[in-house]
Order: sequence, then structure tokens, then C-alpha cells
Amino acid sequence: MSFNRKDLLGLEHLDKKEIQTIIDAAKPFKNMFTRSIKKAPALIGKTVVTLFCEPSTRTRTSFEIAAKRLSADVVSIAPKTSSFVKGESLVDTAKTLEAMKADIIIIRHTCAGAPELLAKNLNASIVNAGDGFHEHPTQGLLDLYTMYDKKKKIEGLKVLLVGDILHSRVARSNIWALTKFGAKVRVVGPPTLIPKRISELGVEVYYDLDEAIKDVDVVNILRIQMERQQGGFFPSIHEYNELYQVTEKRLAKAKPDVLIMHPGPMNRGIEIDSEVADSPASVINEQVTNGIAVRMAVLHLLALARNKQGRKHTC
Ligand code: CP
Repeated sequence: MSFNRKDLLGLEHLDKKEIQTIIDAAKPFKNMFTRSIKKAPALIGKTVVTLFCEPSTRTRTSFEIAAKRLSADVVSIAPKTSSFVKGESLVDTAKTLEAMKADIIIIRHTCAGAPELLAKNLNASIVNAGDGFHEHPTQGLLDLYTMYDKKKKIEGLKVLLVGDILHSRVARSNIWALTKFGAKVRVVGPPTLIPKRISELGVEVYYDLDEAIKDVDVVNILRIQMERQQGGFFPSIHEYNELYQVTEKRLAKAKPDVLIMHPGPMNRGIEIDSEVADSPASVINEQVTNGIAVRMAVLHLLALARNKQGRKHTC
């Protein structure tokens, strides 16, 4: 087994073997979901805290279900009702949780680097559940798992990421993982929503969706992040729809067995046509199910690494 890390902060610095270890560890957890009792004892006696400083439906619920299925004690912190509102710093809040013997803290934050800051200051294991525009490693892992599950290989797959690449931590984590496994990654979107130096990450850049979608195996559609669009990155939603909405007509140019993916939450009728979202090619709900298995694998591997390193609480 090739995973011996204290924290999971991103996919950029994981090597292919470490990512493969997580994917392989997720498979038996996924098989467990068909049993009447979906529980394993791997995290008995461990305390897992979710600290989400940005809204989330999928990731927070998925981590909480994952930790509970592994028999951990799970606590959720909501910033609005915590001492953040009294001015307590993120590190002080996290240290308080560690003093309560939290073993693993799962954090989502608007600031890129917030998980790394906690990792440097705490003995508890830190999991990045999405930090600013930086990374969303478990989303990248569950996307990779879903592609592998459906296509039985990643090497050589043509994978298209569509939309708001600039603000997307999901795009970055997908790119890091997929390129390590030899996929041919394309990105497409309005020039204002494509980072200037993105091709340095080994991806092909397109601005025309009808060109970019030709012969692809997977289309991963990113959410237009309305909450981050103050900069006027495109003239109107109507124009975005015309040029970049993934429709049945456009999909006809991809491979006949193309997979449709979306990390959620979806803006139906904006970046994705409703018929596409509900089509037989769509694996959007399977991504959600796979997310629990992948997060169980991450929590289990971090707990095993903690046991191996003999990590104890310092306070
Ligand atoms: N995919 C994703 O991160 O969704 P949430 O914002 O609902 O967690």
C-alpha cells in the first residue's frame, strides 16, 4: 500500500501510486453499499470533525456519511453558530477542536491555502474539502473513480472540462489527477474564464465548444459560479447558453458512448441542458454515490497512516 500521509491537501503533490491506492481502497467500500448493514469498524474510537466555512450539500453530507459508515464519532461545526462570529481565528478554532481530541478535521474554506495552514499548525489530520479556486481533491478522486469504473481505463481517454475553469477547484484537481494517469485533457470556455497559463498543466485549450467536444470520451461540465461572477466574465447568461451550454445536439459530436459528468450543484438550463443531465449517458448521481466510497477510502487510509506513525494529540 502506497499512502503514508498525515493530510490530504490536494492532488498536485500526490503521485500516481498514492492516487491508485485511494481508488483501489474505495472499491470494497462501494461493494458494501449493497449490503443491508452498510457499516465497517475501521474508525471506531476516532473523532472526525467537518468544518465548512462555505455552503455545501454533497461534500459535507458525503464526508459525514463516509465517516459514520466507518463507525467514527462525527461532529459538524457551522461557522455562523461558532466562535468565528466572535472573532476567533481559524487556527485557534481548529486547535480547540484538536484539544477535544479530533483525529481528522475536514475543512472547506473560501481562501486557497486554509487547509495547508491548519495542516502546518495541528497534529490532527486535515482533509481539504475545497479551498477557494485551488483544489477539491476528493471531487477529483471521485471523478477519476467514476471514469475508471465506467471506461475501465484512464490512459488515452479524451476528457473535456467545460465552462468556468478560472474559478474551478474541481477543474484543477481533475487536471492534476487525469494527466498523471495519461488522459488527454481538453478545457473549453469563454477566454475570460480560462486561466492564461493553463496549457502549462498539459491540457489543450479550446474556446469553441463544437470543436472541443469532437470525439471525446467524457464531458465534465463545470458549474457557472454565479457567486464569483462580479467581474463580468461574459456578457449575459443568454450568450453563455448559446456558446457553451452542453446540449444533445452538441453531444452528438462526441463519442457514441460518451459519459456526462457534473460535480454539482447544477444550474440546469445554463451550463447543462436538462435533457443531457437526465440522459442515459449521465453518471451525475453515480458520482455522488462513488464520492462516499472514495471519502471512506481517504478517511481509512489517513487513519491507518496515523496509527503507523503513532500520532498522538499534542495538547
Ligand atoms: N461538488 C461539490 O463540491 O458540491 P457541494 O458544493 O454541494 O459540496
